[in-house]
Amino acid sequence: FKTGPLFGKKAIVTSGPTHEPIDPVRYIANRSSGKQGHAIAAELAKLGCEVTLVSGPTRLEAPNGVKLVEIESARDMLVACQNALPADIAVCAAAVADWRVDNEAGQKLKKDGSGQIPELKLTENPDILATLSQAGDQRPKLVVGFAAETQNIREYASAKRIRKQCDWIVANDVSPSTGTFGGNENKVHVIARNQCEDWPTLSKKEVAKRLAAKIADYLKED
Ligand code: C5P
Repeated sequence: FKTGPLFGKKAIVTSGPTHEPIDPVRYIANRSSGKQGHAIAAELAKLGCEVTLVSGPTRLEAPNGVKLVEIESARDMLVACQNALPADIAVCAAAVADWRVDNEAGQKLKKDGSGQIPELKLTENPDILATLSQAGDQRPKLVVGFAAETQNIREYASAKRIRKQCDWIVANDVSPSTGTFGGNENKVHVIARNQCEDWPTLSKKEVAKRLAAKIADYLKED
């Protein structure tokens, strides 16, 4: 793909869930499949982009032509993203755990028969999208985040864009009527500073294709 419109550009894409350790054998996670993030990495690579895909544990194969960095926790994901800088583009599609266990045990927690039940204390994880968006002279030229909303989609997503200081938010309508959750289709709104595009219901692959094309179009003057 050495001739595509994104040849010479570098992208970081985050995908999948994160696993937050409780002890050496247990973790807290979520049900993210990584389908949308992996598809975006694949489509950017097809346009000639040099892509680092930073992904939590998924059942997916590494897309062709993409450098896959496999991580487990949000903190690992942040370090891997920072190691992949500088980049022209960042697309944060991972479902990063909001919290991790603060009192992670160094040894396996034991059920010792005393009836004592361990208490997990949670602490906030770093926000990778916000960190990349506010990375000063290391900030990628285009930073794209995702937002899953069930109501007031445009308003909430737009507020999120401003709070995190990214350039675009791809807002998923995950209200039960759309069947997005766990499915292969997605209905999204792409929200920029003074523009909102409402895309029709599309496969996650088609969303990735259109997003990659939109990114190439945005950077073509570069
Ligand atoms: O705040 P919320 O989780 O709804 O924001 C979603 C967006 O922020 C997604 O793009 C997600 O990848 C990113 N995010 C992140 N690091 C976090 C939490 C969310 O990069 N700790």
